Amino acid sequence: MRESNEKIMAICIEYFTEKRKSMGNEYYTPFYAVEPILEFLPKNKIIWCPFDEEWSAFYHLLTEKGFRVIRTSLKEGYDFFEYQPEKWDILVSNPPFSYRDDVLKRAFSFNKPFALLLPVNSIQGKTRYNIFNNEIQLLCFDGRVDYHTRESMHETMKGSYFGSAYFCRNILPTKLEMRRLKKYERPLVGGGEKWE
Ligand SMILES: C[S@@+](CC[C@H](N)C(=O)[O-])C[C@H]1O[C@@H](n2cnc3c(N)ncnc32)[C@H](O)[C@@H]1O
Repeated sequence: MRESNEKIMAICIEYFTEKRKSMGNEYYTPFYAVEPILEFLPKNKIIWCPFDEEWSAFYHLLTEKGFRVIRTSLKEGYDFFEYQPEKWDILVSNPPFSYRDDVLKRAFSFNKPFALLLPVNSIQGKTRYNIFNNEIQLLCFDGRVDYHTRESMHETMKGSYFGSAYFCRNILPTKLEMRRLKKYERPLVGGGEKWE
């Protein structure tokens, strides 16, 4: 138990420190945390998931639920800061946390709707205040999202030390929406087994 708490603490410290920059931001969204955004997404638009491998919960669930999805990833040579698909309508994903300001800046620059899952405390900050320009909408939860890691692709790492929320533009009907997280475990298949 103590060992597991220490492991969670180490992951969270890493998440919120500079070390995370070189660690590549490898924390993956569980299926249950994708569910709450679905009700706000139109089926007739093309959704781009720019930080997502083929096993990503965003890619799987959106596709399963009948959305039109384009998925790209850095591993496949598609750098979010340099590339965008020819045709897409809405940006949806969990971006690398340590580049959140640059990600948000680029997301706004497209002038299209987006929903980005980020630590909820990202709402605060002088730089982001300017980036948000009072245009940001939040989808918040009754509990914290526990994420997958490379070592834990079959189950989420329990006991997250931070809350998460979807930071949206032109997606939600109000500036603040609240939803209950209905947690369940579903493995991210194809990820954990294949890491070099
Ligand atoms: C927090 S993870 C989330 C992954 C996935 N979206 C999910 O929710 O499970 C962010 C991912 O973005 C990738 N990434 C980092 N920099 C990137 C960039 N410039 N362009 C595209 N992906 C990047 C990281 O390698 C990492 O896999």
